[in-house]
Amino acid sequence: MKARYEKLKNRFSELFGGAPEAFIQSPGRVDLLGIHTDYNDGFVLPIAVDLNVAACGRKTDGNKIRIHSVNKNETAEFCADDIRKDEVCFWSNYCRGVVKYLAEAGAVFGGADIVLQSTVPIGSGLSSSAALENATGVMLQTLYGVEMSGKDMALVGQKAENRFVGVSTGIMDQFVSRNGKKDHALFLDCRTLEHKQLPLDCSRYKIVVCNTMKERGLVDSEYGARRAQCEEAVAVLQAHYPRVKALRDADMEMIEKHKGELTEKQYMRARHVISENERGLKAIEVLRAGDYEAFGRLMDRSHDSARDDYEVSGPELEAMVGISRRAPGALSGRLAGAGFAGCTVSLVEAASADAFSEYVKREYAAVCGVVPELWVCSAENGAGRLSEEELN
Ligand code: GLA
Repeated sequence: MKARYEKLKNRFSELFGGAPEAFIQSPGRVDLLGIHTDYNDGFVLPIAVDLNVAACGRKTDGNKIRIHSVNKNETAEFCADDIRKDEVCFWSNYCRGVVKYLAEAGAVFGGADIVLQSTVPIGSGLSSSAALENATGVMLQTLYGVEMSGKDMALVGQKAENRFVGVSTGIMDQFVSRNGKKDHALFLDCRTLEHKQLPLDCSRYKIVVCNTMKERGLVDSEYGARRAQCEEAVAVLQAHYPRVKALRDADMEMIEKHKGELTEKQYMRARHVISENERGLKAIEVLRAGDYEAFGRLMDRSHDSARDDYEVSGPELEAMVGISRRAPGALSGRLAGAGFAGCTVSLVEAASADAFSEYVKREYAAVCGVVPELWVCSAENGAGRLSEEELN
């Protein structure tokens, strides 16, 4: 058995006695296109990455759920039919929320002992929370044979995050963490939740995530402010076009025609979402044709629009994007996730990944005074049970 899973299994025996019944993995994610489009009913194109939560677990009698986090060295214990927020063991709220909404969705399950360990960096914008949510859901699903589609599991995770933990997010993170596919980027229509798996040749190209090391302090308030501006723009347009229910339904012609009724910010936010959705659709043909140069250009334009029209970049992100676009083997550089700070993402020729990393570390340290963390990623499968082959 691979060392990581062996360790999990040993920890399980120490804590709970005996052996686990099942192992699962649940990945973090990075978005390649679709900045702030998910809550506008638009299109996103993320991948599930090879930074993930690994967990092992076993059914127990009764309905007590015990979850041990190796990273935190803490065990959360709660009853499946009495879910309350835990102010001390905060990470466990993502798990508690999932248990609550899984039961509300009609899933039948009992108690469980679970040990989990995560390699998804926390607070960097790679969705460590979605990974934790799907790890909890998929573990209970696996242990109890719960029938639930990948789409519904993603909705349970999003509910847990939005309503139970109280963090406002769209559906992108949970959806791709559950439904991603190895060597593919996931094109998701955030209104219908219909999705397509688009080929991404990870033997030729790597997805490199570069951490600016700057914490995303502004995200909470600014995220809400952007959402509000989008809704205001919709209200203005809806008065003329009743079919506009979200910015997804708007087009450039509409916002040009009614520019005078929109504030400058509303106009800019709408323009970003409209152009970003166009890039998302364009990516379908570009990736199907294997045109990675063109795909890299779409990623670059996505960043430029997020910076200029959506105003979610920041000085450290700008420094990192500039450096990463000039680095060896780079086809693109753009901010990832919600923006403001956190990480950037680049498409990089696999053969140049090491040279790219060295260059970015050196140049960013020279400009910003801190050596950035980098992760050379590939597109991986969404959350699921690990097979014998994957475990050994
Ligand atoms: C965060 C949210 C996502 C999405 C992005 C912006 O990562 O969790 O749902 O809105 O911001 O694209």
